[in-house]
Amino acid sequence: MRKLLKLYRSVIPRIICVWNNSYNKIMFYKENINANDYLINGKIFIRNAGEITIGNNFKANSGKNYNPIGGDTTIRFIVRSKGHLIIGDNVGISNSTFVCWDRIEIGDYVYIGGSCKIWDTDFHSLNPIERRHNGDKQVRTSPIKIGDYAFIGGNSIILKGVTIGKNSIIAAGSVVTRYVPDNEVWGGNPAKFIKKLDS
Ligand SMILES: CC(C)(COP(=O)(O)OP(=O)(O)OC[C@H]1O[C@@H](n2cnc3c(N)ncnc32)[C@H](O)[C@@H]1OP(=O)(O)O)[C@@H](O)C(=O)NCCC(=O)NCCS
Repeated sequence: MRKLLKLYRSVIPRIICVWNNSYNKIMFYKENINANDYLINGKIFIRNAGEITIGNNFKANSGKNYNPIGGDTTIRFIVRSKGHLIIGDNVGISNSTFVCWDRIEIGDYVYIGGSCKIWDTDFHSLNPIERRHNGDKQVRTSPIKIGDYAFIGGNSIILKGVTIGKNSIIAAGSVVTRYVPDNEVWGGNPAKFIKKLDS
């Protein structure tokens, strides 16, 4: 009985892994994504009407079974027709959502922790009449750029128009609304300067 249980425990994860890999491959093909060097645990949700480019050695955890820190979301790439989501080389992402109406650029060696949200749009107009009656036509949208070697702490939200500098760290649970220079730690809501990093 124990042997059977052991076999079951070793075989089932492999079957799930093969299934997830096939699912992701089909999804990448169907959604027209340029990527060929990646290791993804779990399934990624993608809706791409624009451009998604993923660099080499991309690593991702997607789903509650693949991230021990407690994120119960999956990775979601949602890109509109004029959107460009560009991910550099050697990037690692856990369970995070990217909504791109314009441009989101992630540099090389960036880590993005569990359950982050990166939105380059407000989704809705700030004018109540527009929002309620005119189909939200004037929605503010602005590009996001995350510099090489940056590290975004889990459960953070990066809002439209934000640039995060090279090597910089965003503390867990932050809401980033402004420019973060290179080599700095920022955190809180709204995120504020915490300290400089040794260069
Ligand atoms: C940002 C971080 C790296 C700072 O760690 P540290 O260098 O040990 O810094 P400290 O704990 O000494 O804190 C320094 C200051 O930042 C503040 N701070 C730390 N984390 C913070 C957070 N998440 N939000 C707001 N402020 C924070 C501290 O309160 C302290 O403020 P003070 O100087 O006024 O007392 C760490 O707190 C953090 O958030 N790590 C991210 C972990 C994570 O999300 N990993 C991803 C998992 S997938």
